[in-house]
Amino acid sequence: MNRIIVTGGAGFIGSNFVHHLVAHTDAHVTVLDKLTYASTEASLAGLPEERVQLVVGDITDASLVDRLVAGADAVVHYAAESHNDNSLEDPAPFVQTNLVGTFTLLEAVRKHDVRFHHVSTDEVYGDLDLDDPKRFTEDTPYQPSSPYSASKAGSDHLVRAWVRSFGVRATISNCSNNYGPWQHVEKFIPRQITEVLDGRRPRVYGDGLNVRDWIHTEDHSSAVLAILERGRTGETYLIGADGEKSNLEVVRAILRTFGRPEDDIEWVTDRAGHDRRYAIESGKLRSELGWEPRFQDFDEGLAETIDWYRAHEDWWRPLKAETEAKYAAKGH
Ligand code: NAD
Ligand code: DAU
Repeated sequence: MNRIIVTGGAGFIGSNFVHHLVAHTDAHVTVLDKLTYASTEASLAGLPEERVQLVVGDITDASLVDRLVAGADAVVHYAAESHNDNSLEDPAPFVQTNLVGTFTLLEAVRKHDVRFHHVSTDEVYGDLDLDDPKRFTEDTPYQPSSPYSASKAGSDHLVRAWVRSFGVRATISNCSNNYGPWQHVEKFIPRQITEVLDGRRPRVYGDGLNVRDWIHTEDHSSAVLAILERGRTGETYLIGADGEKSNLEVVRAILRTFGRPEDDIEWVTDRAGHDRRYAIESGKLRSELGWEPRFQDFDEGLAETIDWYRAHEDWWRPLKAETEAKYAAKGH
């Protein structure tokens, strides 16, 4: 697998994966990315031009996708509309990119018999109660809550159908919440870090007790590479690093790092349909493929991430005012 297409490779997790591929393989990478508001070419800065090529284009463009896939050994599919709050405002691009885009890619890999890895989310399983001892497994029934998670659930179903009906060589991974460098400031952790850097208070939805299962994006990348190289066709692997934390715990950890009082919080309007808790059981990935996360200590990973945002104001500053204006209009 020397020629790899990474869709959405200029976004948060996709760009981290491209950096990971360059560092850990000899692959030549074609990034196919529409460069929506969520991405910037700057996330790919410093990568060797002879290894990484950016094609600016839409995954729903069937002729472009067909041409690129014809010359590839594998496609790793990250491109998506990814933010729940946006999907509540305007679901249309979520259906278009996440469903029609995945369909377009599947038709191309089917035609050219190219290996496909579909990157998905734990949100397809809905949510868990705070006191539920269960975690999501590969056998948990689908029960998505938001337009975003419903569109990702639909895309997973398309992939499985293309495997079973047409013999497409595909795998799927469903990962929990990522944090790390190059994440857009609309998302929870970078939003709070940059709010504090701007001298404002972190903004917490509802009662702050919602739980997310945090994983460093570098660990997500190593898991996807393991599945791409050694995963069994047709299989789904859950990716998680035992990082359950309430939003309040995360915000307090950020405030502590900045030496600010732990209750210096702005409580804002809750998200409609807000999922209560996500939790991943990643035993299959660990036992079958021998994968282990490198970031076992959330506070350490968070401190590194805070340092990254401190050092890269030039990267996030252009995104900040517009993002906050959108949130202010919604009472968030
Ligand atoms: P992101 O919003 O940061 O990046 C998405 C990328 O896709 C952007 O570069 C954007 O320009 C590109 N894109 C959007 N529409 C496109 C289109 N029509 N054609 C081509 N490119 C297009 O998202 P992210 O957080 O990096 O998530 C990447 C993937 O990982 C998504 O599929 C998401 O569902 C999945 N995922 C995310 C998380 C998380 O915590 N962020 C967790 C699990 C899974
Ligand atoms: O679980 C994986 C999913 O994680 C991915 O599929 C999504 O693409 C990704 O965006 C993420 O979804 P969430 O909705 O969990 O992430 P978000 O960063 O938007 O919010 C995390 C939690 O923080 C959630 O409970 C809502 C809350 N929140 C969010 C923001 C932006 C706040 O309390 N305040 C905020 O300002």
